[in-house]
Amino acid sequence: MRASVTAHKEFTVAKIDPRLYGSFVEHLGRAVYSGIYEPGHASADEQGFRQDVLDLVKELDVPVVRYPGGNFVSAYNWEDGIGPKEERPVRLDLAWHTAESNQVGIHEFADWAAKAETEMMLAVNLGSRGLDEARAFLEYVNHPGGSYWSDLRRQNGREEPWGVKLWCLGNEMDGPWQIGQKTAAEYGRTAFETAKAMRAFDKDIELVVCGSSTPNMPTYPEWEYTVLDYTYDSVDYISLHMYFENHEQNTKNFLARSMELETYIETISSVIKTIKAKKRSNKDVYISFDEWNVWYHSAEQDKPVLEGKHGWPHAPALLEDIYDFADVLVVGCILNTFIRRSDVVKVGCLAQLVNVIAPIMTVEDGPAWRQTTFYPYLYASKYGRGTALDLAVDVEGYETDFANNVPYLDVAGVLTEADGGLSFFLVNRHESEALDVELSLEGFAHSSVTMDKVIVGYALDKTNGPDEEPVAPADGDDASIVDGKLSVKLAPLSYRMIRLK
Ligand code: AHR
Repeated sequence: MRASVTAHKEFTVAKIDPRLYGSFVEHLGRAVYSGIYEPGHASADEQGFRQDVLDLVKELDVPVVRYPGGNFVSAYNWEDGIGPKEERPVRLDLAWHTAESNQVGIHEFADWAAKAETEMMLAVNLGSRGLDEARAFLEYVNHPGGSYWSDLRRQNGREEPWGVKLWCLGNEMDGPWQIGQKTAAEYGRTAFETAKAMRAFDKDIELVVCGSSTPNMPTYPEWEYTVLDYTYDSVDYISLHMYFENHEQNTKNFLARSMELETYIETISSVIKTIKAKKRSNKDVYISFDEWNVWYHSAEQDKPVLEGKHGWPHAPALLEDIYDFADVLVVGCILNTFIRRSDVVKVGCLAQLVNVIAPIMTVEDGPAWRQTTFYPYLYASKYGRGTALDLAVDVEGYETDFANNVPYLDVAGVLTEADGGLSFFLVNRHESEALDVELSLEGFAHSSVTMDKVIVGYALDKTNGPDEEPVAPADGDDASIVDGKLSVKLAPLSYRMIRLK
């Protein structure tokens, strides 16, 4: 099968916000305890952070990490995690039916983030708490000193404010599973008033209001309409979440799911424009896609903990999806979708980073290892920063019961900022046919292939583990450029990243 693609220097989508490649650490399962933090581990530093995990996070070059939740944040008291560790209370975490020791709180996480060379994106609790907690937390985190909360921070050992820019106004407030769930109108008012108070402290912070938890919510997309009607002029982003599953083991459908993501983004983009017009506003609101991933492998094994059959365990294994080769292809398509819609999606958080539906896994007292999905995320994060190209693609498609004409070739292109190189991210969705891709480079002088990485040839259910990581990229060897045309053959069911200079 043939596919033709045209990249034209003048046809671009947007400058990509590097935070499109962010991630997420929640107090959930083993993300924090025995994930990023394990004082007894052989690689632990003086603060108890696992150096092996830090190394992998740095390899991914994660620009921003959302914290501390997730569902967890909606019944969290951030003050429980400050002050002497031995005095911090153990609390029951109602979101995940576990116990929270509070040995890691904002100080520890901020130190970890600095070591991981990433920025923090913090969420306030608008479930069990509200405006007052939010303004106190913001003052604690961002005020230099001379006030109650900022002086308490200094007393607790941190002189300088952290200067956190990005703040989430709660989490998934439309979800019946959320502690303190609200109707769109209740949440819209609360978010507006909270934003007002937070902006009274600092008008330059960036605020993220909750959109729908998934497009399957009965309140979608009226939720976004109502919430933005209350908050449009007070916020910068509306958050969307989406998880992908393949319970039916239908590869064609699974690989086409990113089409639903495109529709989701397009729909909310239209809602944003509608409210903007309604309010005669000249400011823009963008999308923060601050939770996305494949999530379904661990559903059965999590049930006993979530149903309370184990009592209130501290940091049990939860949401430990072990990703396979099929997930590499899906994650590749999702990242391509974000690049293609980088005009409206500015922040993205792969949920999550360590142990919990994560690209990085750890064994307690043992090694840290890379899941299969580590690689498409790595390549997008490292080589997908710059200007997204508006590619013209001509390829056959296939039908599913939820999407028409799903292109066999999924592709995104980026003119990278750091070195002026071109990066192309390609997925062949076809299960049996190779794709002969001819990519015309119009107005570009790029004439050689500098990197060609391919992930191909594995059974769809092939996974990595702590002892071996068989699913990994290899070097491709058949990409060439002649007369401004890049030619490459994409094997059936393959992921590819090609860089040109
Ligand atoms: O990422 C796991 C959970 O998924 C988050 O806590 C919640 O926000 C979402 O439902």
